[in-house]
Amino acid sequence: MKQFFTPALLEWNQNENSRSMPWKGEKDPYRIWLSEIILQQTRVEQGWAYYENFIQAYPTVKDLAAAPEEAVFRLWQGLGYYARCKNMLAAARQIVDQFHGHFPNTYDAIQSLKGVGPYTAAAIASFAFNLPHAVLDGNVFRVLSRYFDIDTPIDSTTGKKQFTALAQELLPHAQSAAYNQSIMDFGAVICKPQQPACSICPLSKKCKALQLNLVGLLPVKTKK
Ligand code: ADE
Repeated sequence: MKQFFTPALLEWNQNENSRSMPWKGEKDPYRIWLSEIILQQTRVEQGWAYYENFIQAYPTVKDLAAAPEEAVFRLWQGLGYYARCKNMLAAARQIVDQFHGHFPNTYDAIQSLKGVGPYTAAAIASFAFNLPHAVLDGNVFRVLSRYFDIDTPIDSTTGKKQFTALAQELLPHAQSAAYNQSIMDFGAVICKPQQPACSICPLSKKCKALQLNLVGLLPVKTKK
């Protein structure tokens, strides 16, 4: 099962994945970071135009760091969660002050930036620097919980540990960028929250949840 998962996912990505987004395949860590901050609490469709506006207004991290706060907030308007915007500007200034304007290139240094947690650090480290860090977002929790039939709550400490270990084990170290992008796209277009496309899913023959008719019940969250 485990051996089948990663090659099948990568094959799907190569042959069937037609999802297109402006930051996909991007190697510039500044652009990747910007896209990931925007997408933290925003849907891809909504974030798309904001991302393009930011890149146009501030092509480099130095441009963003030098921008007046009001101008940055104006461009952010409509995205909500304004702490994200405040942290983003603080991080840009941190990169200029602490990293001489060069985007940090290790997982720990990336995670030391304001507003950057484990997910965002793994996304930047893998997409920009091909470092072997598996991303764990809502898509990944859903895909793994279903394929492996894991009912540990994804918002529990145990669950996070368990899924982190599994995701890291499945990650092909030489292809971490492609793998991380593939699993997120797969969760968005095939293994969707509602009406997953099991009939055309290339992982279906080994999917535990499908075999046990549990797809609709996974992933599990603790009641809050
Ligand atoms: N959500 C957050 N980052 C993403 C990415 N790189 N691709 C697709 N969905 C995402």
